[in-house]
Amino acid sequence: MYVERVLSGMRPTGALHLGHYHGVLQNWVKLQHEYPCLFFVADWHALTTDYDNPQNIEKNTWDMIIDWLAAGVDPNQATLFIQSKVPEHAELHLLLSMMTPLGWLERVPTYKDQQEKLDNKDLSTYGFLGYPLLMSADILIYRADKVPVGEDQIPHVEFTRELARRFNHMYGREPGFEDKAKEAVKKLGSKKSRLYEELRKRFQQEGDREAIEQAHALLDEVQHLAVADRERLFGYLEGGGKMILAEPGYLLTEASKMPGLDGQKMSKSYNNTITLRETAESVSKKVRAMPTDPARVRRNDPGEPEKCPVWQLHQVYSDEGCKEWVQQGCRSAGIGCLDCKQPVIDGILREQAPMRERAQRYMEDPALVKNIVADGCEKARELARETMRDVREAMGLEYH
Ligand code: TRP
Ligand code: SF4
Repeated sequence: MYVERVLSGMRPTGALHLGHYHGVLQNWVKLQHEYPCLFFVADWHALTTDYDNPQNIEKNTWDMIIDWLAAGVDPNQATLFIQSKVPEHAELHLLLSMMTPLGWLERVPTYKDQQEKLDNKDLSTYGFLGYPLLMSADILIYRADKVPVGEDQIPHVEFTRELARRFNHMYGREPGFEDKAKEAVKKLGSKKSRLYEELRKRFQQEGDREAIEQAHALLDEVQHLAVADRERLFGYLEGGGKMILAEPGYLLTEASKMPGLDGQKMSKSYNNTITLRETAESVSKKVRAMPTDPARVRRNDPGEPEKCPVWQLHQVYSDEGCKEWVQQGCRSAGIGCLDCKQPVIDGILREQAPMRERAQRYMEDPALVKNIVADGCEKARELARETMRDVREAMGLEYH
């Protein structure tokens, strides 16, 4: 049976914080049990905006990978690698650039948005314009079926889908395609090939989308089908040529609801974060310094949790009993704010304990991390090489 593949990347921004954990990382940890997953550091993407300041990329990359491992991403389940260590991404990016209309890139909404937002920087560069194309290469080179991304990245996945379609349309017509496709249909066996033909006809003559979905499901079930035949059968369904690049779908990662120390969303740019591996002293100090309901000037002034950022953290870390105690104690001035903050501090430290423990091993033995990544890069490269063989051949670059 064909198993769907998940791929996602993250730019190396340095130490990750609890907002990342409650958003992206917990999601990755869950996905790794459900699908074969590839997770990578998009270090070239970091250069699209930080080309003038590359000194930190390497350190940020290692720190981030340690954070992934600390959060529970398991190198035995998922493949972890670094984009620039799989140079095939760059080759695919180049080849795709030949057939990518400039207007498509200029119209990606993040292009102008980010240029305006980061206006202290000159982003009228070739590399920055190509950001979504590089991301497409990242996705298409692994024929990823599902790409977990935040809402802001959805246009990039849509762009990737359109590009894959254009590519297949343009280069998917191998000589003798019809005959080869018909041969491949026969290989399905008599019962399945009859069903396939019927579904194909229903789609081609009546435009029945359901038929196409059923046909995809049928093909997903078939074992022992050569990759090339599989691609032909997918392509033949819709009347086009061979499906060389797969159109990816996305999995929307819900935005993290993790509040920061000031009640806004936790984010590095608000300077309100607690990092995954922050020391216990620092966690304690930061939470103790958090602002509270301004009405509680003195210890015996009553307060209102709804007006206090500490209360938002109780929503993440405290059980019902504790929350009851807070509401009651705050409104009656029965507890002080430092009393109220203690269970939050405890909750964060409890959450961090296994992360700190896992990270400790890797920090003590950096070779362990290097090996995990070297293995991951090797696995990723194998997959990437396979796709590149097909791409080169489709684009007339297979020098036999
Ligand atoms: N652009 C993504 C982000 O900023 C990171 C990224 C690069 C990515 N290549 C990718 C995500 C491929 C998913 C798939 O979050
Ligand atoms: Fe906030 Fe707790 Fe102080 Fe009330 S008692 S103001 S909820 S920190």
